[in-house]
Amino acid sequence: MTKILMVCLGNICRSPLAEGILQSKLSKDFIVDSAGTANYHVNSTPDKRSIAVARKYGLDISNLRGRQFDISDFDLFDFIYVMDESNFQNVVKLARNAEDIAKVKLILNEVHPGKNYEVPDPYYGGDNGFENVYQMLDEACDNIAKNVL
Ligand code: 4NP
Repeated sequence: MTKILMVCLGNICRSPLAEGILQSKLSKDFIVDSAGTANYHVNSTPDKRSIAVARKYGLDISNLRGRQFDISDFDLFDFIYVMDESNFQNVVKLARNAEDIAKVKLILNEVHPGKNYEVPDPYYGGDNGFENVYQMLDEACDNIAKNVL
Protein backbone atom coordinates (compact mmCIF):
# COMPACT_ATOMS: atom_id res chain seq x y z
CA MET A 1 0.00 0.00 0.00
CA THR A 2 1.41 3.37 -1.05
CA LYS A 3 1.28 6.14 1.56
CA ILE A 4 1.57 9.81 0.68
CA LEU A 5 1.84 12.77 3.06
CA MET A 6 1.14 16.40 2.14
CA VAL A 7 2.92 19.02 4.26
CA CYS A 8 2.57 22.80 4.67
CA LEU A 9 3.12 25.19 7.58
CA GLY A 10 -0.21 25.28 9.40
CA ASN A 11 -2.01 22.20 7.97
CA ILE A 12 -5.18 24.25 7.55
CA CYS A 13 -4.91 25.84 4.07
CA ARG A 14 -2.73 24.11 1.47
CA SER A 15 -1.98 20.58 2.69
CA PRO A 16 -5.56 19.59 3.66
CA LEU A 17 -6.62 20.71 0.20
CA ALA A 18 -3.82 18.66 -1.37
CA GLU A 19 -4.87 15.67 0.76
CA GLY A 20 -8.51 15.92 -0.32
CA ILE A 21 -7.65 16.40 -3.99
CA LEU A 22 -5.19 13.51 -4.18
CA GLN A 23 -7.39 11.12 -2.20
CA SER A 24 -10.23 11.87 -4.65
CA LYS A 25 -8.03 10.75 -7.55
CA LEU A 26 -6.94 7.48 -5.87
CA SER A 27 -8.72 4.44 -4.47
CA LYS A 28 -8.87 3.73 -0.75
CA ASP A 29 -5.90 1.39 -1.30
CA PHE A 30 -3.76 4.51 -1.08
CA ILE A 31 -3.28 6.26 2.23
CA VAL A 32 -3.19 10.05 1.86
CA ASP A 33 -2.68 12.30 4.90
CA SER A 34 -1.46 15.82 5.67
CA ALA A 35 0.46 17.60 8.41
CA GLY A 36 1.91 21.01 9.27
CA THR A 37 5.47 21.75 10.29
CA ALA A 38 4.10 24.12 12.96
CA ASN A 39 1.82 23.21 15.86
CA TYR A 40 -0.41 26.35 15.74
CA HIS A 41 -3.47 24.54 14.40
CA VAL A 42 -3.36 21.07 15.93
CA ASN A 43 -6.90 19.61 15.93
CA SER A 44 -8.27 22.59 13.93
CA THR A 45 -10.59 22.17 10.97
CA PRO A 46 -9.23 23.38 7.62
CA ASP A 47 -9.53 27.14 6.94
CA LYS A 48 -13.08 27.92 5.81
CA ARG A 49 -11.73 29.24 2.50
CA SER A 50 -10.04 25.87 1.79
CA ILE A 51 -13.25 24.06 2.73
CA ALA A 52 -15.18 26.38 0.37
CA VAL A 53 -12.92 25.98 -2.66
CA ALA A 54 -12.86 22.20 -2.15
CA ARG A 55 -16.66 22.14 -1.96
CA LYS A 56 -16.84 24.18 -5.17
CA TYR A 57 -15.11 21.24 -6.89
CA GLY A 58 -17.17 18.55 -5.15
CA LEU A 59 -14.79 17.64 -2.31
CA ASP A 60 -15.59 17.65 1.39
CA ILE A 61 -12.50 18.27 3.51
CA SER A 62 -14.38 19.59 6.56
CA ASN A 63 -13.75 16.40 8.54
CA LEU A 64 -9.95 16.79 8.43
CA ARG A 65 -8.09 18.00 11.54
CA GLY A 66 -4.72 19.65 11.84
CA ARG A 67 -1.71 17.79 13.13
CA GLN A 68 1.99 18.49 13.34
CA PHE A 69 4.57 16.68 11.24
CA ASP A 70 6.46 14.13 13.31
CA ILE A 71 9.73 12.30 12.74
CA SER A 72 7.77 9.02 12.71
CA ASP A 73 6.16 10.25 9.47
CA PHE A 74 9.41 9.37 7.71
CA ASP A 75 8.71 5.73 8.58
CA LEU A 76 4.97 5.84 7.92
CA PHE A 77 5.01 7.45 4.44
CA ASP A 78 6.59 6.60 1.10
CA PHE A 79 6.33 10.12 -0.36
CA ILE A 80 6.29 13.45 1.47
CA TYR A 81 5.20 16.42 -0.66
CA VAL A 82 5.88 19.92 0.67
CA MET A 83 4.39 23.16 -0.62
CA ASP A 84 7.35 25.54 -0.39
CA GLU A 85 11.06 25.86 0.34
CA SER A 86 10.45 26.76 3.95
CA ASN A 87 8.41 23.56 4.50
CA PHE A 88 11.20 21.67 2.73
CA GLN A 89 13.85 23.02 5.09
CA ASN A 90 11.70 22.38 8.15
CA VAL A 91 11.04 18.76 7.20
CA VAL A 92 14.57 17.98 6.02
CA LYS A 93 15.95 19.40 9.27
CA LEU A 94 14.19 16.51 11.08
CA ALA A 95 15.48 13.83 8.70
CA ARG A 96 17.66 11.13 10.26
CA ASN A 97 19.36 9.89 7.10
CA ALA A 98 19.54 10.12 3.31
CA GLU A 99 16.60 7.76 2.90
CA ASP A 100 14.37 10.17 4.87
CA ILE A 101 15.56 13.14 2.81
CA ALA A 102 14.92 11.28 -0.46
CA LYS A 103 11.20 11.05 0.40
CA VAL A 104 10.76 14.85 0.55
CA LYS A 105 9.77 16.63 -2.65
CA LEU A 106 8.38 20.02 -3.62
CA ILE A 107 4.92 19.20 -4.95
CA LEU A 108 5.09 21.54 -7.97
CA ASN A 109 8.19 19.73 -9.22
CA GLU A 110 5.67 17.05 -10.28
CA VAL A 111 4.42 19.58 -12.86
CA HIS A 112 7.58 21.61 -13.49
CA PRO A 113 10.48 19.22 -12.85
CA GLY A 114 13.52 20.85 -11.28
CA LYS A 115 12.03 24.36 -11.19
CA ASN A 116 11.44 24.41 -7.42
CA TYR A 117 8.28 26.52 -7.78
CA GLU A 118 6.28 27.07 -4.60
CA VAL A 119 2.58 26.82 -3.76
CA PRO A 120 2.04 30.30 -2.28
CA ASP A 121 0.67 30.52 1.24
CA PRO A 122 -2.89 31.88 0.78
CA TYR A 123 -3.53 32.42 4.52
CA TYR A 124 -3.17 36.20 4.54
CA GLY A 125 -4.50 36.78 1.01
CA GLY A 126 -7.97 36.93 -0.51
CA ASP A 127 -10.20 34.10 -1.68
CA ASN A 128 -8.65 34.17 -5.14
CA GLY A 129 -5.47 32.83 -3.56
CA PHE A 130 -7.35 29.68 -2.63
CA GLU A 131 -8.67 29.20 -6.18
CA ASN A 132 -5.14 29.61 -7.49
CA VAL A 133 -3.78 27.12 -4.95
CA TYR A 134 -6.56 24.67 -5.82
CA GLN A 135 -5.66 24.75 -9.52
CA MET A 136 -1.94 24.28 -8.83
CA LEU A 137 -2.59 21.36 -6.48
CA ASP A 138 -5.10 19.74 -8.81
CA GLU A 139 -2.57 19.69 -11.65
CA ALA A 140 0.19 18.38 -9.38
CA CYS A 141 -2.09 15.68 -7.93
CA ASP A 142 -3.07 14.52 -11.43
CA ASN A 143 0.59 13.79 -12.09
CA ILE A 144 1.20 12.21 -8.68
CA ALA A 145 -1.82 9.92 -9.15
CA LYS A 146 -0.62 8.95 -12.65
CA ASN A 147 2.84 8.12 -11.34
CA VAL A 148 1.78 5.98 -8.38
CA LEU A 149 -0.92 3.96 -10.18
P1 4NP B 1 -0.94 26.66 5.46
O1 4NP B 1 -1.27 28.19 5.73
O2 4NP B 1 0.51 26.45 5.81
O3 4NP B 1 -1.20 26.50 4.00
O4 4NP B 1 -1.89 25.85 6.32
C1 4NP B 1 -1.05 28.80 6.97
C2 4NP B 1 -2.00 28.71 7.95
C3 4NP B 1 -1.81 29.34 9.15
C4 4NP B 1 -0.65 30.06 9.38
C5 4NP B 1 0.30 30.14 8.40
C6 4NP B 1 0.11 29.50 7.20
N1 4NP B 1 -0.48 30.72 10.61
O5 4NP B 1 0.53 31.44 10.75
O6 4NP B 1 -1.31 30.58 11.52
